Amino acid sequence: MFSKELISKFEGTPTPFYYYDMALLRRTLDTLSKATAKYGYNMHYAVKANANPVILKTISDYGFGADCVSGNEVLKAIECGFNPSKVVFAGVGKSDKEINDALAHDIFCFNCESVQEIQVINQLASQCGKIARIALRLNPGIDAHTNKCINTGLEDSKFGINFNLLDQVVKEVMVLSNIKLIGLHYHIGSQILDLEPYRLLCQRSNEMQQKLQLLGLNLPEINLGGGLGVDYINPDQNPIPDFEKLLDTIHENLDVKEGQRVHFEFGRAVVAQCGTMIARTLYTKKASKTTFAIVDAGFNDLIRPALYGSYHKIENLSSVSEAEDVYDVVGPICESTDVFAQGYQMPLTQRGDLIAFRSAGAYGEIMASRYNLRDLAKAYFFD
Ligand code: LLP
Repeated sequence: MFSKELISKFEGTPTPFYYYDMALLRRTLDTLSKATAKYGYNMHYAVKANANPVILKTISDYGFGADCVSGNEVLKAIECGFNPSKVVFAGVGKSDKEINDALAHDIFCFNCESVQEIQVINQLASQCGKIARIALRLNPGIDAHTNKCINTGLEDSKFGINFNLLDQVVKEVMVLSNIKLIGLHYHIGSQILDLEPYRLLCQRSNEMQQKLQLLGLNLPEINLGGGLGVDYINPDQNPIPDFEKLLDTIHENLDVKEGQRVHFEFGRAVVAQCGTMIARTLYTKKASKTTFAIVDAGFNDLIRPALYGSYHKIENLSSVSEAEDVYDVVGPICESTDVFAQGYQMPLTQRGDLIAFRSAGAYGEIMASRYNLRDLAKAYFFD
């Protein structure tokens, strides 16, 4: 996938670093724009997946909204060109400062996760003479059949308000004078490859709409959170997720009343495939049962394999050997979990070889830390 010319550019760049293929990002955004325009759906990019300003500016240029989960994400999104009137703000634990910052920018909507949070927003909004638009984030009790670490919509997950409490919560919220309830929000998880959980989510949303109708309410906004998955195994064959198929499924299954608007919040599906982490092999060594390829990137640079057991395709960009061996690809951090892959088949690898960790554009650079006082990997953008 990487041309010789590009690899020669990598050769001169200090490793590890993040490489972003901006042409692929734009192709992905074009595809997403077309798919959302088909039904007039509203897309909010989930800033948590990658908040590099170059990436954020590229996405905001397409006119998408932003889905934020912290006050700093709200501020960064606005700074990078997202219109506050398209910014939504979710999170189980919004601090007073974060709420005040979002109020000051008149964001589109707070996705609220408890009654107490809504009461605090009401109080802070009244102090600054504003009316806060909110959506109730309902926990839909749906298993998204994804990695258990990133399944957010199960009944006992910490997120959202239990859907069975809708009537009661609506009554408590309607009396608050500085709150305007504008919609319902759901989130079922991330890296979802199966469309069935989305169908179930539509059913749950339809049920909730009926409940609201009985209360005499017709709320204009429906936000169906749940991140479409990407193909980590074959990034070159499937560089752009099938947005259209998912949105077609939603269109077929979701009841949308006159004047209602439907929102989505994708992070990973937008940015995962355009990013690659490039590292260099420092050493190889044999143990009794395995051969280690020790690279100069660690879990501080890309934490997904260590944290969730996630798979990233690994490629040796330098080896010209036809022969292969099986490696445990590990980093330099002083922890046994600093392992990118075990028993991984690669061309014969030696000191100095460049190693690519594919599909690292989402939850890669943004989750990096300075653990072991290591430097943060830089980002480079290529067209
Ligand atoms: N909106 C909310 C409220 C979320 O909780 C999430 C992800 C998203 C949007 C974006 O979902 P996406 O489109 O990226 O799937 N660090 C983990 C992923 C955690 C995602 C949890 N919530 C990973 O590296 O797999």
